[in-house]
Amino acid sequence: MRLTARLMKVFVTRRIPPEGQALLAQAGISNVEQWESDEPISREDLLKGVAGAQGILCLLSDKIDKKILDTAGSNLKVISTLSVGVDHLALDEIKKRGIRVGYTPDVLTDATAELAVALLLTTSRRLPEGIEEVKNGGWTSWKPLWMCGHQLLNSTVGIIGLGRIGQAIARRLKPFGVQKFLYTGRQPKPKEAAEFQAEFVPLDQLAAQSDFVVVSCALTPDTKLLCNKNFFQKMKKTAVLVNISRGDVVNQEDLYEALTNNQIAAAGLDVTSPEPLPTNHPLLSLKNCVILPHIGSATYGTRNVMSVLAVNNLLAGLKGEPMPNEFKL
Ligand code: NDP
Ligand code: DGY
Repeated sequence: MRLTARLMKVFVTRRIPPEGQALLAQAGISNVEQWESDEPISREDLLKGVAGAQGILCLLSDKIDKKILDTAGSNLKVISTLSVGVDHLALDEIKKRGIRVGYTPDVLTDATAELAVALLLTTSRRLPEGIEEVKNGGWTSWKPLWMCGHQLLNSTVGIIGLGRIGQAIARRLKPFGVQKFLYTGRQPKPKEAAEFQAEFVPLDQLAAQSDFVVVSCALTPDTKLLCNKNFFQKMKKTAVLVNISRGDVVNQEDLYEALTNNQIAAAGLDVTSPEPLPTNHPLLSLKNCVILPHIGSATYGTRNVMSVLAVNNLLAGLKGEPMPNEFKL
């Protein structure tokens, strides 16, 4: 079936990277409506845009809920998201309607793992503080204990969610001389864990024994606010938390308490709740908290490949063909 064979509307909720954009332009879809901006679409415009669409290409910041699906109507066949995370999609409602979902796993794994390592080192070695001290005159001389942090050599690293990205992070951290990897998840993954001799442990044990906790799980009802007061109380006072998954996996109020009461040493967050984090948020006032603007996959190459994959998922869904990456509901 050619896409031009009958009137077909696709709604794209944002300008996407050039390679994906070019592919979309060549696809021969009769009616592509697109939110022509780098800024998020308003809810009102999103509702208008999806009405009558057969396909939606969206971002992780677009909440595709029941109202959006109802407004789109019964013609909607496919939702393609420019992300591996699908927590912004009302999956139960989507499944009920027989709509297919495309997503972008694997292609962003390396970029995100690289950023996770950068964030871990930035946080544990206190780089933003150090840079600031150089600028503000706080650097007066070389002092034995000044600006000391925590190191990976001989450490225990606990990974919450040893999925694609969790494994890629472990693979990069291993050469730093990590002594032991622990992990949690829905079930042990002996095949994947073997590469790191990683031990599957209960969450409490991971909290108690890890020098570094890396959060790389999907956001689901089970993982929402998984890192909370109870979790932080079990962590070592010298431990560092790094979250690259979704902001809602961490209870930020509890994290603030843990960081200010010296229950844990530091936290590095690439993801927050909400996003963007308000500039007056208490966590931003802490020296031992490093916050990045959700840039895990933000390399030119990765974002281009993600956009091509998202468009190919969309096109396959519209044609009723197998998608390069379908999220099975
Ligand atoms: P995967 O599906 O490969 O991995 C997800 C992991 O989450 C799995 O290991 C899974 O465990 C684990 N998990 C699910 N439920 C639980 C639970 N209850 N407790 C602990 N772990 C659990 O996905 P990816 O590795 O590709 O991506 C992971 C997440 O990273 C994405 O969902 C997204 O939210 C986030 N992400 C963030 C980016 C950024 O820019 N910061 C970039 C890309 C992704 P199990 O193995 O047992 O199923
Ligand atoms: C994802 O894909 O889920 C990330 O958060 C952004 O790349």
